[in-house]
Amino acid sequence: MTQIGALRTPRNIIFGKGQRGALGLAAKSLGSRAFVCTDPRLSAERDFSAMIDDLKANGIAVHVYDQTVAELPLTCLDECIASAKSFGPDLVIGIGGGSCMDLAKAAAVMLSHGGNIRDYYGEFKVPGPVMPLIAVPTTSGTGSEVTPVAVLGDPERTMKVGIASPHIIAHTAICDPELTYSCPPALTAVSGADALTHAIEAFTAIRKPETPRLVHEHVFIGKNALSDHHALLAIKRIAGSLSVAVSKGDDEAAREDMMLGALSAGLAFGTAGTAAAHAIQYPVGALTHTAHGTGVALLMPYVMDFNRAARVSEFAQIAGAMGAARKDAADEALSFAAIEAVKTLFKDIKIPATLAELGLPEDQLEWTAEQSFTAQRLINNNPVPLDVKKLHHIITAAYHGSSVKAAA
Ligand SMILES: NC(=O)c1ccc[n+]([C@@H]2O[C@H](COP(=O)([O-])OP(=O)(O)OC[C@H]3O[C@@H](n4cnc5c(N)ncnc54)[C@H](O)[C@@H]3O)[C@@H](O)[C@H]2O)c1
Ligand SMILES: [Fe+2]
Repeated sequence: MTQIGALRTPRNIIFGKGQRGALGLAAKSLGSRAFVCTDPRLSAERDFSAMIDDLKANGIAVHVYDQTVAELPLTCLDECIASAKSFGPDLVIGIGGGSCMDLAKAAAVMLSHGGNIRDYYGEFKVPGPVMPLIAVPTTSGTGSEVTPVAVLGDPERTMKVGIASPHIIAHTAICDPELTYSCPPALTAVSGADALTHAIEAFTAIRKPETPRLVHEHVFIGKNALSDHHALLAIKRIAGSLSVAVSKGDDEAAREDMMLGALSAGLAFGTAGTAAAHAIQYPVGALTHTAHGTGVALLMPYVMDFNRAARVSEFAQIAGAMGAARKDAADEALSFAAIEAVKTLFKDIKIPATLAELGLPEDQLEWTAEQSFTAQRLINNNPVPLDVKKLHHIITAAYHGSSVKAAA
């Protein structure tokens, strides 16, 4: 089989303890008027004031919007853009979790191209470059600091919507694990679990036909040689450190691994894409109002069960990255071990095991399958072709906690 590889990444990725101190000089090379998106929690912190002082010390005029609402309702974006326009920035900086970084991306699109945010939903809808973006994550989860996506909550849509365009990749990502020390255990668990699912779904995604048009026709091009490298690195780091980061938030090495893992997972899925677990989470999240990371993590072992036979070698490598002894074991046995390892890890960090536990009404399983199928970008990225019936099998298994075969 010939290999194909692609990566879409920020121009600069800076990772490491204390590296938030690189913000001022990074910004100075990109503009002189910085509009900063954050939330009320972070804007009250000393770390945040220090970053703002660093920007100012580098001669940059700063205007802060600190009312980001988690999961990003459109009202928040409208307010943010009004605030930005009154300032007239030439640079946008998102500091916070995925919500703050996604707000910065969406704001950069609106400030650069105007119009209605709904014009940009979907793939390749942003018509050209946006003003320079810097992303500084404070959770180890979404990977938004390096991805070409911003996820928004539109009150006119039941499910969340995404803007997917290489133009909204941050120019510079600054990933400092110290900013995650304050994440409480539940947030650490849910965001870290999301990152692991990004890596697994990217590593096991479909291989798309290797035409020279591939990267121009799809923002997410499926499994490839370059995203694989980052996916495996992510799986290794996250599997080794997620439980420790949750139970012992002051473990610096675990926090460091988690941030490197989430960043690497972002690099993997930012080019390869995610698949069925993410497609199914959209309607599940809309019905249960539960966190994205909880839903995708709960669904992951069931989706792996469904996909396993098509990805035996990849699952065996996942088992290896998660610490299974390869020695004499055949790939087939290791592929089952990968599913068990993922289940055990998520159980350990208290991710619910079934959709029933998550509060999904049993009479909504069919609707959930139908809605999942509408997320075609994700559905088409799954290694095994999906239709509504197959999705229903996966969802039924996840509802009851049974094997997908038993639900079929
Ligand atoms: N753009 C992408 O590539 C991408 C990928 C996956 C998910 N997302 C989106 O990202 C959002 C989720 O992001 P998230 O999980 O990072 O959380 P978040 O940004 O929604 O924040 C959740 C809560 O955690 C708090 N928080 C953040 N950092 C903290 C810290 N260091 N200490 C204490 N509290 C902290 C926030 O103040 C907030 O109350 C969702 O909207 C999701 O759809 C985006
Ligand atoms: Fe995700």
